[in-house]
Amino acid sequence: MKDIIKTLCMILLVHCSTTVFSQKFEGLAEVPPMGWNSWNSFRCDGINEQKIKEIADAMVSSGMKEVGYEYIVIDDCWQVGRDEQGNILADPQKFPSGIKSLVNYVHEKGLKFGIYSCAGTLTCQERPGSRGYEFQDARTYAAWGVDYLKYDWCHTGTQDAISSYTLMRDAIYQAGRPTVFSICEWGVSKPWLWAKDVGHLWRTTGDIRNNWDIPDAKNGKVWGGGVIINLDMQYLLDEFSGPDHWNDPDMLEIGNGKLTLEESRSQLSLWSMLSAPLMAGNDLRNMDESTMKLLTNEEVITIDQDSLGISAKKAIDDGEFEVFVKPLTDDEVSVCFFNREDVRVDIEFDWKRIGIEQSYRIRDLWNHKSLGVTTDKLKMEIPAHGVVHVQLHPHQ
Ligand code: GLA
Repeated sequence: MKDIIKTLCMILLVHCSTTVFSQKFEGLAEVPPMGWNSWNSFRCDGINEQKIKEIADAMVSSGMKEVGYEYIVIDDCWQVGRDEQGNILADPQKFPSGIKSLVNYVHEKGLKFGIYSCAGTLTCQERPGSRGYEFQDARTYAAWGVDYLKYDWCHTGTQDAISSYTLMRDAIYQAGRPTVFSICEWGVSKPWLWAKDVGHLWRTTGDIRNNWDIPDAKNGKVWGGGVIINLDMQYLLDEFSGPDHWNDPDMLEIGNGKLTLEESRSQLSLWSMLSAPLMAGNDLRNMDESTMKLLTNEEVITIDQDSLGISAKKAIDDGEFEVFVKPLTDDEVSVCFFNREDVRVDIEFDWKRIGIEQSYRIRDLWNHKSLGVTTDKLKMEIPAHGVVHVQLHPHQ
């Protein structure tokens, strides 16, 4: 009898301790994370410690840090193997000083450092994954001072997404270093339904591509693609996103040479309306002036970073003309008029169409000027694939 009671107590103790100690680090992403990730411009072969340092330098000198970009994330291919104890090893050719020293460099710039791994046995580029090494890897990242982990979903076989991501969440928590956990499972198992207590952000689509509207298929199904392919996949997901748990329609393609100026503005505006993480993916060292200005448009970034954390709803869908509406703090509202046509459209917009009866002052967030008040109809020209993005301020 004594033994049975003892065993029951033990079970209870183990249960309580895992319940108490198993959670995500709360409050690390009260607003959508902002930063830069190596994948879109450098892919696998292009990364090395020198470049990452120069990117960190450029993030500061370009003014990006000042407007909120914070994380420098190295994506796939930094890792080459494991030592005899199973510790993950960085590529000694590309990262000769080791990851810890790179993390220190990034921290000294006042920035934060992110790393990449995968829930499967291998990463998407067939580097060692974390399967079976979750706790060990999490301890290594913590010892290196890592602040953010992007955790992918390749080579996962029959693994269950919820348990795999929860396991890594617990490993991070036990390693003891507050780390943003970025779930990269491409929306396959609808993480918006289960990941709120597991991660701080989750991908809702397959990989974004460096184009405007070309769909990308996997197993015969569209899983992502150009900017508006990923945008459309966010439809009706807004209610699942909020402070500390964000939908992630994937990174920015601004400055990667394919999107037009208007398309680039549209991506930043629409991503901000969605309260999406803003992870630049261009080579910050060689940005032209217009890319730099675009990425640092504080008036648009403020919409993304609004502390209410409400994601926009599509209030009007007239085919090629769409209107997104996002409530902000202090009774302000952001409205984004989006023209999907290949040609410019001229619109005269009656604010009553989106239920706005009261008078607000209208601020144009790209041209930085007033557009009058909402009791008048708004006359606007929206460029091909472009937006008119405004913020409405109530009169005092
Ligand atoms: C997957 C992810 C991408 C990127 C690559 C790296 O495709 O979805 O964002 O991390 O792997 O291999």
